[in-house]
Amino acid sequence: MCGIVGYIGNLEKKDLIIGGLRELEYRGYDSAGFSVLSHGELHAFKAVGKLINLEQKSKDFSSSGFGVAIGHTRWATHGKPTEANAHPHSADFSHVVHNGIIENHRELREKLECMGHRFLSQTDTEVIVHLFEEYLKECGDALRAFEMSVAELKGAYAILLITQKEPNKIFYAKNASPLIVGRGKEGVFFASSDAPLIGWADEVSYLEDGSVGVMDLENFESVGQISKLSQDRSYAQKDGFRYFMEKEIYEQHAVLLESMMGRIHEGRVELEFENLGFWDGVDEITICACGTSYHAGMVGKYLLERYGKIKTNVVIASEFRYATPILKDHELFIAISQSGETLDTLEAVKYVKKSGLKTLAICNVDNSSIVRECDEVLLTRAGIEKGVASTKAFATQVMVLWLLSVFLGGKRGVLSVQEIDEHIQAMIGSAKKTEVCSKLHDRIKRLSKRYLHGHGFFFIGRDVFYPLALESALKLKEISYLHAEGYPSGEMKHGPIALADSELFTVALMPQHLLYEKIKSNVEELSARDATICAVSSQEFDGADDMLYIQPCKHYMEEFFSMMVALQLFALEVAVRVGSDVDMPRNLAKSVTVE
Ligand code: F6R
Repeated sequence: MCGIVGYIGNLEKKDLIIGGLRELEYRGYDSAGFSVLSHGELHAFKAVGKLINLEQKSKDFSSSGFGVAIGHTRWATHGKPTEANAHPHSADFSHVVHNGIIENHRELREKLECMGHRFLSQTDTEVIVHLFEEYLKECGDALRAFEMSVAELKGAYAILLITQKEPNKIFYAKNASPLIVGRGKEGVFFASSDAPLIGWADEVSYLEDGSVGVMDLENFESVGQISKLSQDRSYAQKDGFRYFMEKEIYEQHAVLLESMMGRIHEGRVELEFENLGFWDGVDEITICACGTSYHAGMVGKYLLERYGKIKTNVVIASEFRYATPILKDHELFIAISQSGETLDTLEAVKYVKKSGLKTLAICNVDNSSIVRECDEVLLTRAGIEKGVASTKAFATQVMVLWLLSVFLGGKRGVLSVQEIDEHIQAMIGSAKKTEVCSKLHDRIKRLSKRYLHGHGFFFIGRDVFYPLALESALKLKEISYLHAEGYPSGEMKHGPIALADSELFTVALMPQHLLYEKIKSNVEELSARDATICAVSSQEFDGADDMLYIQPCKHYMEEFFSMMVALQLFALEVAVRVGSDVDMPRNLAKSVTVE
């Protein structure tokens, strides 16, 4: 995810800003840049790739004396990771950096272009600096112009802007993207998370949503609630969580909103295909992926067939490649991958391309090998995932597949405007359901101690809850090394029920809004054979030994996302109790680039 730093003071600004960006490297980025405004002059440097490239480009530059500076690491969302798209973005006399997504950037850009503004990048961010200069022309007051610009923006943002018209100040705004301002003896500092501030700021203010203002060396006190800054750097990188995986589970609410942003509108879903004729003639889909991404693909099959009314196959990449698959002319091949580098998936894409199939990547990393290989891409926008066990990447993959199925339902005329709107409400509701409440997490911590022995786990579910059962079992085995399997609940009686006894733990996914009665009788069959049942549901179930309650939901997909979080936390807490390395479990790698 993108990172922001800013500085007002006398220190050498280039070193300070690049040093701050380095503290944000762990979040992942594909380009970086900074601007310094000192002695009335604006200097900007940008580079694709790692910070070393930015250092190289700016090696002959230094800034002495008082000045202001802003810097940014970019994780591409709108527009490719190129130098032109890297931040800061500029107009005539101002520069801006931004984290988040401006949903209405297209409308704003069109309006500004009609007024004669020339845009240099494909980003949503660039509208901010043009809006600012336009309003400044109109009202002559920089703060007022900044406030008027921010009032026009829809979406999520943390913004820092500097301008030659007010050379000693940084303008800032925050909504739904983190932004912190701090003060130390060397000046005033901004950052999008604690890490770059450590060692520089003693006291900080975590800006509230809706904050818009201007900062100079004198007015730090104006920002609102001020607190002392903890100086523990590794804790800061994990945003105060014990593990990256835990942090990433908690981030799901925010990243799901990012994956929806700019794609949902009242009564319609719009996806950013560059080739408008991409869907012409497509009447079947094959989804190909590995591991967790494959599980997301399985969920996608249910959704694409149910809402897009399009036949969908799901294949495991390593199996697909050597199975002499039959490929049809009108088939679209979708490769799902968090990293975009998984060799089996990449090779499968190359294989189908030789037969002329259209290809679409659903991926978290722009410019990765799979993205470059495919004709079109839908980025999942989960931000970098550090925990080896995938969590937020899975959540966003499912969300993008849901968006795609509703997009196709609309395009193929099988979903009405009202039905699409109901899906959109359910999507927003689902993101909300992934917010972790401390009561649920505490309950799961307590519950986990009862599940450390026995001879294994069965996670069972039906429909989309079957791949969720598979995924939950995978999470548990990956990080706790306990044996766990996912199974369709209706299949248990065809064999695995033979294992049922009190030492077999069955985690039953029991959504209220999808086949509740069917799964209930499957679970009763197991309970009658004395299996230990942990029911995950919003409904009380008499046959359960333990209940893992989720909040009542309006739609089965809300229940899906709610259970997903509960079961990720369950895997995490069991792993913590057995003492395994949660973020780097044995024998596993984050990106599997071998066969
Ligand atoms: C499990 C996990 C793996 C990956 C798989 C594919 O937590 O992360 O199963 O899903 O290795 O990786 P990507 O999605 O990068 O292609």
